[in-house]
Amino acid sequence: MANLLCIGAGHVGGPTMAVLAQKCPEHRVIVVDINPAKIAAWQSPRLPIYEPGLEEAVFSCRGKNLFFSSEVDKNIAEADIIFVSVNTPTKTFGQGAGKAADLQYWEKTARQILQHSRTPKIVVEKSTLPVRTAEAMERIFHSQDRGLQFDVVSNPEFLAEGTAIRDMEAPDRVLIGARDTPSGRKAMQAIVDLYAHWVPRERILTTNLWSSELSKLVANAFLAQRISSINSISALCEKTEADIQEIAHAIGMDSRIGPRFLNASIGFGGSCFKKDILNLVYLCEYYHLPEVAEYWEQVVRMNEYQQARFLSRILSSLFNTVAGKRIALFGAAFKANTSDTRESPALHVCRALLEERADVVLTDPHALDNARVDLGEEARRVTFEPDPYRAAVNAHAIALLTEWTLFSELDYENIYRSMAKPAFFFDGRNILDHRKLFQIGFNVHSIGKPSLLHT
Ligand code: NAD
Ligand code: UGA
Repeated sequence: MANLLCIGAGHVGGPTMAVLAQKCPEHRVIVVDINPAKIAAWQSPRLPIYEPGLEEAVFSCRGKNLFFSSEVDKNIAEADIIFVSVNTPTKTFGQGAGKAADLQYWEKTARQILQHSRTPKIVVEKSTLPVRTAEAMERIFHSQDRGLQFDVVSNPEFLAEGTAIRDMEAPDRVLIGARDTPSGRKAMQAIVDLYAHWVPRERILTTNLWSSELSKLVANAFLAQRISSINSISALCEKTEADIQEIAHAIGMDSRIGPRFLNASIGFGGSCFKKDILNLVYLCEYYHLPEVAEYWEQVVRMNEYQQARFLSRILSSLFNTVAGKRIALFGAAFKANTSDTRESPALHVCRALLEERADVVLTDPHALDNARVDLGEEARRVTFEPDPYRAAVNAHAIALLTEWTLFSELDYENIYRSMAKPAFFFDGRNILDHRKLFQIGFNVHSIGKPSLLHT
């Protein structure tokens, strides 16, 4: 039996360790966090995040071989392998502000590990980090001559929110990078052995440390680039009466391109895409590669352009004024099946409409609590309404911003009858039957498709 510790009980730490504990019943898995309220929630019947399959995974092994605790120091002392999944947000101050990763949480954790260790440790980078962070960590671990062996292994996480448990249970691949030294290879094997409990060996890739660290940033950059690429073409479709969904289907059937991640939208959100691309941009600038930096920065710019375009469309369609008009926003989460609202395009739209003095009503099946917190002061000017039917009453327009299945199953005839006229529908996710909405009476705007307007 080994003691596995995870520092950081967030969107990565919680779900990944729950699956690890399920799949490796002979090991003891402990997840710690500096936020006692979060730990209390992980210990309670109501977990701190919504994620399909998470409750089943946690409840099946919590109290058996999965534990949540606020005692960081004691658990460091007892651990054999330490996964670190603390947050690595974009730096907001000093050199690299707005682009570089803020590594203060990582470095504090490394120093804490050093201070409380009495036995050798394998320290696993699960957080997304700039390439060569492991080198800095090694220097911290070896800064005191304590006679202890510390091996740093990179094992980036590729799960997506909303499918975290499925992604952990059946990953496309697991990536593990380590030093090519006898102890580095041993540490790498220890992590391979954990995943080999349930992941086919051919899906477990082993690489050098730097390739593993950099692959994580590159994977997110490529995924986000596909979204910006299709969104850029959606703007051209709106000028030419081509249809972005027909184009995505046509190009996606080319096996070299593939069909996934080609849904045009109001832009990508979430805590990672923007942060990780900006981190990549910063690294390129740091290594004096301005052309490469500019190339990737454009992915973020295109995303901002897409959101701005969507807002302009709402404004111009509603006769260039939304002041005092009730607008119902369907969705607050940055994507379906999560309660997470970090960097949600929905909240971006919400803030912009508040600036225009609209009367905003926000509805979402799981994300209203987080939206309230994220909106801060502005939340006071928003009506939070869990029932979409009530949200739409007397509204001049509905903007669908998160692709929850629930929103495609509503009775839109009923909704239309309750709204102010003319009634507008802005489908920011292209999930509804636009012709049907038009026949009901709505003026329909979508992404990258001709608008359907009653004259
Ligand atoms: P999160 O904010 O949900 O969780 C991070 C947790 O770390 C927080 O609960 C915080 O209190 C805790 N923490 C910070 N400093 C600590 C310390 N010194 N000791 C103990 N706990 C501490 O973040 P997240 O979404 O889980 O992301 C974590 C990392 O994983 C980031 O680097 C992110 O880029 C990466 N990642 C995230 C996802 C995702 O889907 N969210 C997927 C892959 C990778
Ligand atoms: C993303 C990656 O998919 C994960 O592999 C990665 O581990 C994770 O970031 C991370 O590093 O945090 P996530 O942000 O949870 O996962 O969710 P995605 O499914 O990638 O969606 C991101 C955003 O892009 C959402 O706002 C989504 O609505 C949008 N999106 C996605 C589109 O607009 N169009 C698409 O075709 C796909």
